[in-house]
Amino acid sequence: MKILAAALVICSLLMAHVVTGKNVLILLGDDVGFQFGAYGNTKIKSPNVDALAKRSLLFKNGFTSVSSCSPSRSVVLSGLPVHQNGMYGLHHGVQHFESFNGVKSLPVILQKHDILTGIVGKKHVGPDTVYKFDYEVTEEHYDLNQVGRNITCMKGYIRNFLQQAKNSSKPFLLYIGIHDIHRCGYNGKLGDFCENFGDGMTPGTGVIKDWKPEVYKPEDVEVPYFLPDTPATRSDLANMYKTYSRFDQGVGLFMKELEDAGFADDTLVIFTSDNGIPFPLAKTNLYDPGQGEPFMVSSPVHKETWGKKTDAMASTMDIVPTVLDWFSVPYPQHELNGNKVGLTGKSLLGALKPKPVDPAFDYVYSSHVFHEVTMYYPMRVYRTKQMKLIHNLNFRAPYGLATDLYMNPTFLDILNRTESGQPLPWITTLKKYYYRDEWQLFNLTSDPYEVDNQAGNQDYQDILKDMKNKLNQWLVDTHDPWRCLPDDELEGRVCYPMDNRK
Ligand SMILES: *[C@@H]1O[C@H](CO)[C@@H](O)[C@H](O)[C@H]1NC(C)=O
Ligand SMILES: *[C@@H]1O[C@H](CO)[C@@H](O)[C@H](O)[C@H]1NC(C)=O
Ligand SMILES: *[C@@H]1O[C@H](CO)[C@@H](O)[C@H](O)[C@H]1NC(C)=O
Ligand SMILES: *[C@@H]1O[C@H](CO)[C@@H](O)[C@H](O)[C@H]1NC(C)=O
Repeated sequence: MKILAAALVICSLLMAHVVTGKNVLILLGDDVGFQFGAYGNTKIKSPNVDALAKRSLLFKNGFTSVSSCSPSRSVVLSGLPVHQNGMYGLHHGVQHFESFNGVKSLPVILQKHDILTGIVGKKHVGPDTVYKFDYEVTEEHYDLNQVGRNITCMKGYIRNFLQQAKNSSKPFLLYIGIHDIHRCGYNGKLGDFCENFGDGMTPGTGVIKDWKPEVYKPEDVEVPYFLPDTPATRSDLANMYKTYSRFDQGVGLFMKELEDAGFADDTLVIFTSDNGIPFPLAKTNLYDPGQGEPFMVSSPVHKETWGKKTDAMASTMDIVPTVLDWFSVPYPQHELNGNKVGLTGKSLLGALKPKPVDPAFDYVYSSHVFHEVTMYYPMRVYRTKQMKLIHNLNFRAPYGLATDLYMNPTFLDILNRTESGQPLPWITTLKKYYYRDEWQLFNLTSDPYEVDNQAGNQDYQDILKDMKNKLNQWLVDTHDPWRCLPDDELEGRVCYPMDNRK
């Protein structure tokens, strides 16, 4: 008896040092922001995401590597910034961007280690050979609204994948790309956010059995600081909130599938979004409303972190290192375009340990080139907890607008008020929104809204220089072809001046 007890103690001691979990679930929202109770929103009802927060470590400082759909998803799956993986802009239609053929993506790396991989929902990256999952139910072969927004339809495919995983006894990675709360395009009766799709109230839009829509009135929403508080914005937000209820209930439904399949106790769950909400200053921007993301990590072997919040900074660039760490799979040695490739993100499991002292949790980098193909606006960003540096390489051109960021009630209201000289209660102006300084340095402590550029302020020259150096070092490490622009030309590894300033 004594021996058995001792053996059990030794066994549990050993277990405590080994990650026993064997699966990963990534829940990725589309244009999802901070509209959750768990992130302090008091107006929205988000019981399911809040329940996930109760079994997760919640990152107060979560960020995307790039605030644009395909680019962001390419970073989630490759761990490399867009200027390194080649997915400079959107994948679909005339945009036509893809990653380099030599990129090693997470599913392909894991498959080599006999891990089963699946994707259900929005994929939006290519080429297919680079981003290949064993099980794929995506917009490539199905209707995107069905596999991305119809949570009942998604549930069926998720159940099927989990059943296959069970049958195979292999560890798995399941990536669920929920298409909510993305705007809906010119979809008439479905609404600006597809908020009427399957709501059971709007004639001709069908039914989504597992969704009990929450409907909001314009006075029921919280207007975030970066939007003008006008009737147009409020009704736009109210429609978005209704779509959030489908997103939230989807998260609850999919977590229940995981549990019912018996995987709740050995699956690492990572919850985040590709970019900020589809509103001015957010999506496609790298101001905080575009760069900041909800970010939660739920680990069944770090239960002591459940329900806690951390200041540690997390990036979507950290997802690949985190998942590899979880599975104890090394990142394969390889080259891209003649350069050795290394991951520059860190494993977020480090933040789950008692003391995340690693300085890698004190900063994040972002890199943007295009959203749509017409929107060439390269930006490079280095952000710490206190400061943000943005380099706008194409600062001489006006900032471009994505189709869904133009044709929506909030933006059209801003435009109309600006053109007709009506009052516009906004933290910026359209002119400032379009025309940005080349270098933007914000003190996030005194200026959390990022409206007061300190780059020209004498008092900030030392920190500006230091942040520029750190940003440049990262661009060198990640082989950024843009790193000498806009003043110099990259030849080999050297920047040569062009004398192109007026
Ligand atoms: C799993 O295995 C069972 C029993 O062999 C089989 O009936 C079922 O079709 C399999 N399911 C899947 C999704 O492969
Ligand atoms: C959602 O999916 C289910 C299952 O495939 C289907 O029965 C239902 O009609 C779909 N709802 C809509 C609105 O398309
Ligand atoms: C634009 O403003 C005018 C008043 O100046 C108003 O009549 C019109 O409805 C507005 N249009 C939009 C799209 O908001
Ligand atoms: C940023 O602002 C805070 C609050 O005003 C101030 O204490 C701090 O010194 C500023 N940072 C820098 C680098 O000047």
